[in-house]
Amino acid sequence: MNSTPRRVENIVTDKGKVPVYATGIIDQPWEGYSETDHDVWRMLYQRQRELLVGRASDEFLVAQDAMGMTPDRIPKFADLNAVLKAATGWEIIGVEGLLPELDFFDHLANRRFPVTWWIRRPDQLDYIEEPDLFHDLFGHVPLLMVPVFADYMAAYGRGGVKAHGINPDALVHLTRLYWYTVEFGLIQQKDGLRIYGSGIVSSKGESIYSLESDSPNRVGFDLERIMRTRYRIDSYQKTYFVIDSFEQLMEATGPDFTPIYERLADLPSFPAGELQADDRVIHRGSGEGWPTDADT
Ligand code: PHE
Ligand code: FE
Repeated sequence: MNSTPRRVENIVTDKGKVPVYATGIIDQPWEGYSETDHDVWRMLYQRQRELLVGRASDEFLVAQDAMGMTPDRIPKFADLNAVLKAATGWEIIGVEGLLPELDFFDHLANRRFPVTWWIRRPDQLDYIEEPDLFHDLFGHVPLLMVPVFADYMAAYGRGGVKAHGINPDALVHLTRLYWYTVEFGLIQQKDGLRIYGSGIVSSKGESIYSLESDSPNRVGFDLERIMRTRYRIDSYQKTYFVIDSFEQLMEATGPDFTPIYERLADLPSFPAGELQADDRVIHRGSGEGWPTDADT
């Protein structure tokens, strides 16, 4: 599955006819975006950028500017790719939505980041159940400009292909790592705690909550601790894990995970909000407002 994707058919969408490739890749139908689509991008972009200065990691903000993403229009993937490819060898590919796990891992391993081509409706600015263009592009793509993070994402993809070949349990453990780093990670910067996870940077409410609320736990990064921790898909996180640097993340995830998966197979998982005895606790959450049904 390492070859260039093969175009297999044209499908008709409300944006016109678009080609679909064997791997689920789709050409960004840029001319088909409506003024409303561009408005949604502009509103979300401006709102988040304003909020994220002083909240998102400096590396995220610098990278986003360097890419040439602007609020005025939905960016063209081809324009961003020219910059991104030159910086770290990554490229964006358009997709309709979530991909089968193995396809997703294979894309990452080959430095292709799948971005959903469509954007949410104006009545979904605050919350959307599945990833859209704003989450994928605004949230995930900027850090792919940063060499160490770019390498981490590709290593994750290779690790995913490997875990997929081990057993479903290995995948569960690996997915938690993605969740608590790529999607919901915090980073300790010299001048304070900052956000780098895309699930947070693309959400107004969670950008504030993750840093400023008393409710959630904030705990120092620990690979196996994270792999054992359940998470929430329908509410803000109960626990956020904090890295000191992307280099720390890269180093901690460098070793072969195979023996770790074997060891963890016999160990119970932790509820999302439960602190553990060896945690490096940065903030003990008050637990206020936490949902009480089971975590994922
Ligand atoms: N070292 C991991 C493994 O052997 C691969 C990996 C790297 C996974 C970085 C996640 C992040 O499976
Ligand atoms: Fe995401």
